[in-house]
Amino acid sequence: MGFVDIHSHILPYMDDGARNLEQSLQMLSMAWEEGISHMIATPHYKRGRYRAGRSEVLEQVKQLQEAAQEQNIPLRIYPGTEIFYHGDLEDRLDRGSLWTLNGTRYILVEFGPMEEYSYIRNAVDDILGMDYRPVLAHVERYRCFLKDAERVREISSMGCRVQVNAGSIVGQFGYSAGRFVRGLIQKGLVDYLGTDAHDLRKRRPAMKKCAAYLYEKYDREYADALLFGNAMSELLTDRSFGA
Ligand SMILES: [Fe+2]
Repeated sequence: MGFVDIHSHILPYMDDGARNLEQSLQMLSMAWEEGISHMIATPHYKRGRYRAGRSEVLEQVKQLQEAAQEQNIPLRIYPGTEIFYHGDLEDRLDRGSLWTLNGTRYILVEFGPMEEYSYIRNAVDDILGMDYRPVLAHVERYRCFLKDAERVREISSMGCRVQVNAGSIVGQFGYSAGRFVRGLIQKGLVDYLGTDAHDLRKRRPAMKKCAAYLYEKYDREYADALLFGNAMSELLTDRSFGA
């Protein structure tokens, strides 16, 4: 069993991630080398900016999966979206115009980095009220959580899932983000990891270093849960797409 990356911009032509099929394949190959065996493709959906339409995402996932097979990269790819929260979300989910995470009731949601905590908490409440489960993308990116980590506990107890970027844990995004996420892991407030990979350089699909840190610092059971167990049982179940 390899690692599960629940947040990646691996699909070509969708957003500011992979530029073309060749780059997507290089990123997949790199991810495989990093020990990742399952990846949810989560192109940006942002009103007026990135579309990430349902059929388009599925089409790109299928094409990329086929191309990967031809190149003997056994990594499995699943459809998803990283949704920038907006008040019209319910409408879009009702119409089925956006991918949840692999067709489950979980949605990967992001906000502006300077957003007020009350706004994010209300959005979490709103999404839960729609009978979906929010997964907060890269919790370490928001000022309101960096200021007060107990807020993570609050949204978590409301039912929100929490995703952290693997690179943050090993300091790739600065000292304070690193210290913050390592603290959350210690407190058991992180559910999933993602690479948030966009390219082959600065934001590449890296997981190995993070995994080495987790296995060194924590018992195997906890590290396994973060690196693949939680995502496997909640997001990649056999009821959902492609499993
Ligand atoms: Fe992202």
